[in-house]
Amino acid sequence: MKGIILAGGTGTRLKPLTQILNKHLLPVGPYPMIYWPIIRLRDAGIKEILIITNQHHLSSFIELLGSGKKLNVNLHYEVQVNEGGGIADALLHARKFINEEKFIVLLGDNVFEDSLIPYLKDFQQQDSGARILLKKVKDPARYGVPIIDTIQKKILSIVEKPSKPPSTYCVTGIYMYDQEVFKFIESIHPSNRNELEITDVNNLYIKNNKLKYNILKGWWIDAGTHESLYKAFQFVNHHPPKGDIH
Ligand code: G1P
Repeated sequence: MKGIILAGGTGTRLKPLTQILNKHLLPVGPYPMIYWPIIRLRDAGIKEILIITNQHHLSSFIELLGSGKKLNVNLHYEVQVNEGGGIADALLHARKFINEEKFIVLLGDNVFEDSLIPYLKDFQQQDSGARILLKKVKDPARYGVPIIDTIQKKILSIVEKPSKPPSTYCVTGIYMYDQEVFKFIESIHPSNRNELEITDVNNLYIKNNKLKYNILKGWWIDAGTHESLYKAFQFVNHHPPKGDIH
């Protein structure tokens, strides 16, 4: 299976740190943030990885990571033409790279403890569809929030950044998709924040009865704000993810 890391966006919530630097190059523990999703993929046996970023920062990623040889992965790069166009828009740029396979997508600012291996196994056993990972959080209003039928273990719907969250879970930036995702992305429209929302795509999978989920066990952080970036730094220092970096 191949992996995609989304490392574009404008990093608005981390300004002025992101005035010049791409968010995913900021330090988290001893490494730039982007190292962590690469390591998580690599340690789950995924070595063909596409990094999607914006034109402006592409050269920094290439300078830092190159072919990926030092981290024992093969890195490929694509540019998101519409910078700030949203997660689903960025994903469209993965189409050529994916080529008929199922794949996993990580948001480059999600730093987490769990190994991806068991979740990828579950996804491999699905004939088709998608699988997302949830996490119980204190501040669900910041995220995509699922409405869950706990008896049937089914997600009924996902609401993006709800003012009154319907559950205490959030949808993490770890998504597994089949080819149908591209068809779904092409059918959605920009949201109020003028982005193609991955939540709209996931809701289409739900409508088609094709969205499964797991709940992450270990710590998980979306390091997209000053507070959470600081937390990610602390977590990584206190509980470094297992496995060699080099
Ligand atoms: C994005 C998604 C949201 C998800 C979050 C996870 O939010 O839109 O559904 O819960 O990532 O990190 P954003 O970072 O764009 O605010």
